[in-house]
Amino acid sequence: MKSIFLIVILAGLGWWKPVFPALNTSFKPGEIWLDTDGEHINAHGGGILFHKGKYYWFGEHKTAGKGGNRANVGVSCYSSTDLYNWQNEGIALPVAPENSGSEIEKGCVIERPKVVYNARTKKFVMWFHLELKGQGYNAARTAVAVSDSPAGPYTYLKSHRPNAGVWPINFNPAWKAKTITEKDLKAWGDEWKHEVAEGLFIRRDFEKGQMARDMTVYVDDNGKAYHLHAAEENLTLHISELTDDYLNFTGKWLAVAPAGHNEAPAICKYKDKYYLITSGCTGWDPNAARSFVSESMWGPWQPLGNPAVGQGADLTFESQGTFILPVAGKKDAFIFMADRWRPNNPIDGRYIWLPLVFENGKPVLRWQDEWKLNTFATAKR
Ligand code: DGJ
Repeated sequence: MKSIFLIVILAGLGWWKPVFPALNTSFKPGEIWLDTDGEHINAHGGGILFHKGKYYWFGEHKTAGKGGNRANVGVSCYSSTDLYNWQNEGIALPVAPENSGSEIEKGCVIERPKVVYNARTKKFVMWFHLELKGQGYNAARTAVAVSDSPAGPYTYLKSHRPNAGVWPINFNPAWKAKTITEKDLKAWGDEWKHEVAEGLFIRRDFEKGQMARDMTVYVDDNGKAYHLHAAEENLTLHISELTDDYLNFTGKWLAVAPAGHNEAPAICKYKDKYYLITSGCTGWDPNAARSFVSESMWGPWQPLGNPAVGQGADLTFESQGTFILPVAGKKDAFIFMADRWRPNNPIDGRYIWLPLVFENGKPVLRWQDEWKLNTFATAKR
């Protein structure tokens, strides 16, 4: 009797959460996703690393209310063996103290962290979009941190404006000498698109390095890694090769879909082709996703249209993509991970994970209120 009384008291105080964590057995896109401590998972704009039988989910740690999209805490990490139940591993990369002068001091912007494992160096490498404190989104940098263990702690190394002093491999040498600048152009239209395609911003940022905002990192089957990011004032995507240690840029890079306004790149490989899913650029508001296919990372990338179908497809089911996760142990099984942002209360942002399937050579996303991994075939990869 006494113990029942105690349980009732503890439940009343909210202490039941860690005592009786509920086991999740399915994905419920858009609902509150509780971790094993009973707290809503706080890993937005995330990406997942699979290492030695465990998934590690890294994401932006958001806080409540105004200012909650700034990096007040750092990059979170959660781990799971079944993708449904996630244990909070703490802050993998903490922000530096305010006024410390660090590039990642509290109040900067850290977005879309992605972690990859380097089999040669045996290091875990985290890349993320970094905006310096007090500079809005003007810095447009990508930054790298490193760790000896998947959940961290990660040591901050440095930030980059990629590919300073090098032209992309698909750049016509005749465009190098053009002198036209933004000031010479009037309202946005065909003339702008033409000039962007002929290197308007690539020339402007040539010495300083190219802009890098929304990003992801992809490691190919042969161990080569690539950094994909929104550049040129979010107008054009850049794909850049990383050095063998994944800590730097080699200088080989490609401009993709010039003036196409693509953000939120997410990539996967299916039947020897690369598929890229992006969004348009509407701030925290959702828009229609886009998709592209290529036989090589170096293009040509062919547009395939909106991968989302059915009701809600025009706003990607009120979300914006962040990562495509290949499910371990299952052949051709991919999860499209997206964020339903809540800019007025960022900590309340929701996760939209949906099966990504391929139909007639195109990636396809359909809404599901609830789904399980058994939607995929079970054969080994
Ligand atoms: C859209 C991007 O995809 C997000 O990561 C974030 O940068 C917002 N824009 C900021 O408005």
